[in-house]
Amino acid sequence: MNSENIASNEIAKRQTFAIISHPDAGKTTITERLLLLGHAIQIAGTVKARKSSKHATSDWMQMEQDRGISVTTSVMQFPYSNRIVNLLDTPGHADFSEDTYRTLTAVDSALMIIDGAKGVEDRTIKLMQICRLRNTPTITFINKMDRDIRDPIELLDEIESVLGLEVAPINWPIGMGSQFRGLIHLATETIMIYERVKNSAFPNNEITVAFNSSEARDILGDDWSELSQQVELIKGTMAKFDQKSFLTGQRTPIYFGSAMGNFGVKQMLDDFVTYAPSPLRRKANTRLVKPEETKFSGFIFKIQANMDPKHRDRIAFMRICSGVFRPGMRMYHCRLGKYIRITDALTFLAGNRRSTSFGYPGDILGIYNHGTIQIGDAFSEGESIQFTGIPHFSPELFRRVILKDPLKNKQLQKGLKQLSEEGATQIFMPLGNNNLILGAVGVLQFDVVRYRLLDEYRVDAGYETVNVVTSRWIYCDDNKYLAEFKAKVALNLALDGGGHLTYLVPTYANLSLMKERWPKIDFAETREH
Ligand code: G4P
Repeated sequence: MNSENIASNEIAKRQTFAIISHPDAGKTTITERLLLLGHAIQIAGTVKARKSSKHATSDWMQMEQDRGISVTTSVMQFPYSNRIVNLLDTPGHADFSEDTYRTLTAVDSALMIIDGAKGVEDRTIKLMQICRLRNTPTITFINKMDRDIRDPIELLDEIESVLGLEVAPINWPIGMGSQFRGLIHLATETIMIYERVKNSAFPNNEITVAFNSSEARDILGDDWSELSQQVELIKGTMAKFDQKSFLTGQRTPIYFGSAMGNFGVKQMLDDFVTYAPSPLRRKANTRLVKPEETKFSGFIFKIQANMDPKHRDRIAFMRICSGVFRPGMRMYHCRLGKYIRITDALTFLAGNRRSTSFGYPGDILGIYNHGTIQIGDAFSEGESIQFTGIPHFSPELFRRVILKDPLKNKQLQKGLKQLSEEGATQIFMPLGNNNLILGAVGVLQFDVVRYRLLDEYRVDAGYETVNVVTSRWIYCDDNKYLAEFKAKVALNLALDGGGHLTYLVPTYANLSLMKERWPKIDFAETREH
């Protein structure tokens, strides 16, 4: 086999996805089950113990102190049934939604987990909106069948009406809560009987029995004929799984199960590796980039600093879009227009990061960043390219940074620069004074920044409120007009961490007025690269 064939085999094996869910739906528990099934971990409880608190700031920070944790839970690669699965973690807390948004740009499919008792919740709606924009193929797991959940038909209606997704149930629950008996697979008409176990490392009862057998009649007793009618009804009224409408993100296959009971997860994973897409083409500013192209390309969707306090390193996470990565290769840093040599890159097996000797499209590489890499940066073998759809959002919360020890100004600048590169916060430097203003999407980000400044940069900083409600990036083709604008509103202008001109908006009324007054100025809510 020549190297091109090897690469296309490796590409076909890859599946890169993220889990989407509202906090508490069972993302951590499912992740753990998947890793157990992939033999990436051996003991139930491993991921659970690492889970960072979704609610308490202090707990979150406590967990984050061990930086090794973040890296292993950010990206998890595991082999399963002839496939290499890359699972990307998304932060549970809504305050880190920017990070989640960008992570979703790096995947080819998604697994949506819904708590059967709660149905479609806020955060799931928001995340699915992003997936819908990109037509990301999505598999749905309705979790917690061992509890009293809502009527399954009502849940499916809700997915259709609220998320705008067609649903195709693959299996159907037999009872629920204390009466939960198992699952019937609709296409094969086989049943899997549930046994009540908690946190088992092994899939719960994989043995299936034909529904139309005396064994099944014995097991189900009087419930058999009722279930038979129900199955007829569901099969007659609901859409069937269809690969094409799944791949275009229109229709989602639905699996019921219990993550905690380790029941139904294997069935879902088996289908996932069969149907989920291999690495897809990626949109760039000039063209579509195909994974099978021989020349290497990739983009940065996340940066995490100081993951290993001993080394004080910063890791940039790169999604490979085409070609093959080999250590020592020269990559073209498109934004800087220069070549860099990557001697060492990391891959992430659950629980471990290690140097890699290759990387294929769909894989996520961890690259040591010495301050030259930013979120959204593209790399190639020489072509000048920019992948689209990796935005920065205008923050809606702002604080002025107050330095407690003025001698630490240099460290403060350095810390804020690095934390903003990582996307932990956005930094704005007003043109008219020496203030430093932080912008965030969620208020928890400020706490994290203050904590990390102290912990990692030994800078004690506080905050003051500031009269800014949002910001807009300023673009204008007419230089003379732009100069006039800059002179008139100098007091409200700042440069962001990437050096881009920004208007700090004091009130929304002011923003409307400015847009009217300066029609040739584009007040952009998002910016890419
Ligand atoms: P998250 O990462 O999406 O936030 O959810 P996580 O897996 O942590 O699950 C949230 C809670 O729901 C946990 O309970 C977990 O045990 C429980 N859970 C997950 N899957 C199932 C399931 O299939 N059935 C039932 N009954 N519960 C499930 P907890 O009380 O917060 O934690 P723990 O004490 O159980 O660890």
